[in-house]
Amino acid sequence: MMVVVIPLFICVISGALGLVTEDTIPAFTHHAGLDPDGKYTIAWLADKEKMELVVSLTCATRGWLGFGVSTNGAMRGADMVTAWVDDAGKPFVQDQYGEGNFLPAVDTQNDWRILQASENSSHTVMVLARAFDTCDPHDLPFTNATKRFIYAWGEEDPGSNLPENLLYHGPRNRGSRYAFMLQPSPSTGDNLPADVKTWRFGGNMIIQKHRHTLYWCNIIEAPQMSTQIHYIGYDMKHGQNSLQYLHHVVVFECSGDPDENEKLHNYTTHGGHECYTENMPQDFTQCKAALVVWAVGGEGDKFPKYAGYPLLTEPGRRTFFLVEAHYDNQPRDHGVEVDWNIDIFYTQKLREYDAGNFLIGHNLNFGHVVPPRQKHWLTSGHCPRECLQEVLPEEGIKVFMVFLHAHTLGRKLRVRHFRNGEELPPMAVDDNYDFNFQQTAVLDQERTVFPEDHITLECDYDSRSQHDNVTYAGFAAVGQEMCLAFLMYYPRIPMAECVSAPHPEILKKVFDIDQFDHEEELYTFNANHEALNPYLPNKGVQYQDWVNRRNWDDMNMTDVNYQMARGPHLNRCLKRGGIPAHERKPVVKFPVAKYYTYQAAECPSLLHPIGKEGLSEAYNMANGNANNNSFMLIAVFYIFRYTFSFL
Ligand SMILES: *[C@@H]1O[C@H](CO)[C@@H](O)[C@H](O)[C@H]1NC(C)=O
Ligand SMILES: *[C@@H]1O[C@H](CO)[C@@H](O)[C@H](O)[C@H]1NC(C)=O
Ligand SMILES: *[C@@H]1O[C@H](CO)[C@@H](O)[C@H](O)[C@H]1NC(C)=O
Ligand SMILES: *[C@@H]1O[C@H](CO)[C@@H](O)[C@H](O)[C@H]1NC(C)=O
Ligand SMILES: *[C@@H]1O[C@H](CO)[C@@H](O)[C@H](O)[C@H]1NC(C)=O
Ligand SMILES: *[C@@H]1O[C@H](CO)[C@@H](O)[C@H](O)[C@H]1NC(C)=O
Repeated sequence: MMVVVIPLFICVISGALGLVTEDTIPAFTHHAGLDPDGKYTIAWLADKEKMELVVSLTCATRGWLGFGVSTNGAMRGADMVTAWVDDAGKPFVQDQYGEGNFLPAVDTQNDWRILQASENSSHTVMVLARAFDTCDPHDLPFTNATKRFIYAWGEEDPGSNLPENLLYHGPRNRGSRYAFMLQPSPSTGDNLPADVKTWRFGGNMIIQKHRHTLYWCNIIEAPQMSTQIHYIGYDMKHGQNSLQYLHHVVVFECSGDPDENEKLHNYTTHGGHECYTENMPQDFTQCKAALVVWAVGGEGDKFPKYAGYPLLTEPGRRTFFLVEAHYDNQPRDHGVEVDWNIDIFYTQKLREYDAGNFLIGHNLNFGHVVPPRQKHWLTSGHCPRECLQEVLPEEGIKVFMVFLHAHTLGRKLRVRHFRNGEELPPMAVDDNYDFNFQQTAVLDQERTVFPEDHITLECDYDSRSQHDNVTYAGFAAVGQEMCLAFLMYYPRIPMAECVSAPHPEILKKVFDIDQFDHEEELYTFNANHEALNPYLPNKGVQYQDWVNRRNWDDMNMTDVNYQMARGPHLNRCLKRGGIPAHERKPVVKFPVAKYYTYQAAECPSLLHPIGKEGLSEAYNMANGNANNNSFMLIAVFYIFRYTFSFL
């Protein structure tokens, strides 16, 4: 066993002699496997007091360990570190940055500290720390946005003169994994209170080479209970090959209607159907309330210890769930068996508060329009006081987790929060939204929402991949879009949905439409097929075809986008059970307010490149054209040390 000495004092850690500098090794809050074979694992902690990230890397090699943080999983633009222990037991760390798919460049300013390093006959362990923000232009600031950990390892120690001696890691000894690196851990871990029980279900699929993607849906029944229970979280349990091929799993609670349950019971013995195709039974569509949302890299969810989501509200009632599993087979492998399980945690010892969730964002209707070829297109959905006043108690509700959702064009999502003419720090922001990583975000601090508040979800899209047609709202992951967020909160109130969409008069104005057929009914704003594509009697065509024919290049897109995102919207406010809170939908607008001011970055040198890359148009519009904060806002999203309350 090699022992490494850089010590001020020595402590014994898991049987190996580990050496520590001025810091003691903290308790890690996150633990995860990196590669599919379990050779390389990581534990980490975002130390918000010291403003630094501490990572513990363990790999089955006596050579070098590579670790990095990237916005998109690629080496170009990534921030990297290579560390190893040489045969004499001396530890090395090398700060690097990626410029492409070749050996990373050496960063002359080393910002990584070795807290501990050891090597035995088979493994190397390195504990490293780095400040969230180093003010080094070759480093990526660690922020709340979605990031990917990239990793690689080699079997040999590099010589002393990196990078030339760093041997190529080979195609297998590398990969990437999504992470919200600075957020509190959402995972349940192993320390569950004694009263918590587990209900396990899973899936199993043989991958076929002619299917590079497959959505599979089946119905399961929850164990029957004699008393009410609280759902308090879940863990994903990977089985064979699931790390590689399982992409996401969503578990929806079905309506609970006794007649519907009768029908659903019949499906529980059936292996399932391909989702959202004609083969999928119509009965499945009643299962709408998302309980579990897991996607690649997700760690599970955990509710705060005083809140639980009531599942079986009437003792003895049967509860059914729709399980949607997405298998992704880009390598077109054949005959590979994939299996996985989910552990649902619940308790009969009811917690102090019933938790609930409700939906905010853009109504899933014909007003959701993302024109083609736009680098930045902003969509907003309002949840105004007109709705909140109908459902919230005077003392408000406390939001503790947020789940942001858009499809493949979504780039930046943020939940903005207004009160008394002032904007509070955003409740949730992801400035690097990635459809492939949909993990519930745990708020650092709970956020109270009062009845007189206003919440706006904004989604920025990049539609440059769409050459021709508009992307409309819909359920298809590719080719249709959404702009939604679920807010998880307590105490539970009878609220289901608070969304908005541009007023039809705005659509008429910007798209040169004189009349919609059945105009009065449009206001019902259902997401059914016809309402997504109403008929335009004076044009003799349907809305989507008409809008597809717009000549976008001749339009002032800033103005069109401004009118749609900032002009009058109709709000849809639904109580649980789909009961509208208003007879007529309120007309609402983006609030006039003192917009949130983002604090100046610690590292002004970093403002420049980000500003250039930035979003000036969309953000200028975000706060009204004249607002000055917008530029800073973009920059500082990346730079951190601003008082964002989230992600
Ligand atoms: C070597 O270190 C690894 C990682 O800490 C550990 O799992 C393994 O048991 C160790 N092997 C021996 C022989 O001590
Ligand atoms: C359930 O399945 C049985 C047997 O296939 C069938 O007779 C019955 O009609 C089904 N019930 C419902 C509600 O679909
Ligand atoms: C665009 O939409 C029109 C109908 O509005 C359709 O006929 C056409 O095929 C679509 N083009 C592409 C490239 O999908
Ligand atoms: C587009 O519209 C915006 C907002 O109405 C306006 O400020 C801008 O001058 C217009 N641009 C052009 C090229 O007309
Ligand atoms: C923008 O900010 C600067 C400095 O803070 C201020 O002098 C200027 O008046 C502002 N402009 C607008 C349009 O608000
Ligand atoms: C992330 O959000 C939290 C608030 O929830 C904030 O305290 C923290 O500073 C943010 N971190 C970064 C790096 O922006």
